[in-house]
Amino acid sequence: MSIRCLYPGTFDPITNGHHDIIRRAAKLFTDVTVAVAANPTKTPAFSLEKRVAMAELTLADIPNVTVTGFTGLTVEYAREHGIAVVLRGLRAVSDFEFEFQLAGMNRHLAAEVETMFLTPAEQFSYISSSLVREIAALGGDVSTFVHPAVKAELESRIR
Ligand code: COA
Repeated sequence: MSIRCLYPGTFDPITNGHHDIIRRAAKLFTDVTVAVAANPTKTPAFSLEKRVAMAELTLADIPNVTVTGFTGLTVEYAREHGIAVVLRGLRAVSDFEFEFQLAGMNRHLAAEVETMFLTPAEQFSYISSSLVREIAALGGDVSTFVHPAVKAELESRIR
């Protein structure tokens, strides 16, 4: 059976924790579309174009993955592109409440789109994009958390 999935997020920036989830998904689904949300309500640190470019570089080692930027509703993107599954990661129990709400709202908006969850490897359970940005801004080493190209972008942003 050929099932495609959509992995939406802000990816501000993409981390090795996201990579871990996407690598697992790429083995289970025909292809994975990583959808970088413009998400102006979160006032991202990096532009949409930059976040897409960083995701493309980080995910270049996984063949059945494509990266795209989008501005509308996640479920509308899935619908328009015939994608049946929205994938989200669960790092800890604390993620669950928001994810449950998001999945419920997305089901209300598009009942034919299912939400599925994967958990990352243990060493990625405490990573988040904002923590990575903060560590980099304060001169800490983020090389175990992000692709070298993302590390370079974080460093140039500080300069
Ligand atoms: N590894 C590392 N970090 C992870 C992670 C993982 N596996 N999984 C989640 N995170 C972190 C992110 O780094 C981010 O950290 P931050 O808050 O410090 O920046 C946080 O978890 C949540 O990020 P993300 O998974 O990107 O979700 P989000 O809340 O930024 O994005 C969207 C949510 C984009 C999916 C949602 O807003 C959306 O669908 N927007 C489109 C518009 C829409 O459809 N709205 C209606 C929704 S019902």
